[in-house]
Amino acid sequence: MKKIAVIGTGVIGSGWIIRFLAHDKKVIAYDKDTKLKKKIISEIKRTWPHVKKLFNKKNIKLKDFTFTTSLKEAIKDADFIQECAPENYKLKIKLMNEIGKYAKLNSIISSSSSGLLPSRIYSKCKNPSRTIIAHPFNPVYLLPGVELVPGKKTKSIFLKKAQKFYKSISMNPIMVKKELPGYLADRLQEALWREALHIINEGYGSTQDLDRSIEDGPGLRWSLMGTFLTFHLAGGKEGMKHMLEQFGPALKLPWTKLKAPKLSKKLSSRVIKGTKLQSKGKSVELISNIRDQYLVDLQKLRKKYENKLRK
Ligand SMILES: NC(=O)c1ccc[n+]([C@@H]2O[C@H](COP(=O)([O-])OP(=O)(O)OC[C@H]3O[C@@H](n4cnc5c(N)ncnc54)[C@H](O)[C@@H]3O)[C@@H](O)[C@H]2O)c1
Repeated sequence: MKKIAVIGTGVIGSGWIIRFLAHDKKVIAYDKDTKLKKKIISEIKRTWPHVKKLFNKKNIKLKDFTFTTSLKEAIKDADFIQECAPENYKLKIKLMNEIGKYAKLNSIISSSSSGLLPSRIYSKCKNPSRTIIAHPFNPVYLLPGVELVPGKKTKSIFLKKAQKFYKSISMNPIMVKKELPGYLADRLQEALWREALHIINEGYGSTQDLDRSIEDGPGLRWSLMGTFLTFHLAGGKEGMKHMLEQFGPALKLPWTKLKAPKLSKKLSSRVIKGTKLQSKGKSVELISNIRDQYLVDLQKLRKKYENKLRK
C-alpha cells in the first residue's frame, strides 16, 4: 500500500494527505480546481510542526505529493483510494461508479463518509467486495480514531487489509460489526449536539456555557475513558452494577429530547453569534494551531496513562 489517491481535498481530504505523507506514502490528490493545490501545500506547512512532533518525523517529503484534476489519472495506479467528497448520496454514488471504472481491481476503495450507508454509496461501484467506509475525526493528521464499516458485499480479506493499512499510519481502527446510519461515534456526537441545540433554543444556557460543561467535566475524562468505563467508576466499589441500580430509573425521566429542534433563523443566529463571541476575534487558523499543539501534548500524556489502564 504505497500509492494512495485522495479524492476531494477539503478539510478531511487535506488531513488524510498530511497523515499519509507523514507515513511515507506517495499521494496523488484529485479535486476540481488546480488552485486548491496551493491551499493544500499551505495547510501541509501550517500543520507540519505539530505532525512532526507527534510522529517523531524529520522532514516532510513534498516531492511525494502530486495534484491532478483528472480522476482517472489520480486513480489508475493507486493501491488505496481515500474518497473525501461532500456528504451526499447522489454525488457519492456517481463518484464511486466512476472510481470503480478506473481503479485497479484489487485496490481498496475507502470513503470518509460521516454516516452514509456503504451498501448504498457503493451500489453502482464495480467489485464492491473491496469497498469500505473509513470514518476519521478532524484533524485527521493528529487523531488516531477511525471507524471501519463494511457494506453488505465487503469481503473480510479487504477489511483486514484496510485495518492493517490504517494501523500502519498510526491509527486505531474501530471495527464496526455491520453498517448502520451514523456509525458509532457520530450517533453519540449527534445526540449531544441535538440536546445542546434544544438548550440554546429554549434559552437555558449559552454556547459557551454548554462548551464549558463538557470541557471542565466529562470532556477531561473522555480523552482517557468513554461513557461505559466512566459510569463503571460512578457506581463506587460495585461498579456498573450499582450505577445501574442507582441511575437506571433516571432513564425514564424526561431529561433528553433527542429529536432535533428546527434549525430556525433565531437558533442559527444564537449559535453563530455565540461561537463568534467564544472565538474572541481569533481566526479559525489560530484556534486550529492552539488545538493542534494541545492534541499533540495531550496524546503524549495520554500514552503514559493508557498503558496503565489498558494492559
Ligand atoms: N468535516 C468533518 O469534520 C468530517 C469528519 C469526518 C468525516 N467527514 C466526511 O468527509 C467527507 C468530506 O468532508 P469535508 O468536511 O472535507 O468537506 P469539504 O467541503 O471541506 O471538502 C469537500 C471537497 O470535495 C471536493 N468535491 C466536490 N465535489 C466533488 C466530486 N464530485 N468529486 C470529488 N471531489 C469533489 C470539493 O472541491 C472540496 O475540496 C464527507 O463525506 C464528510 O462527511 C467530515
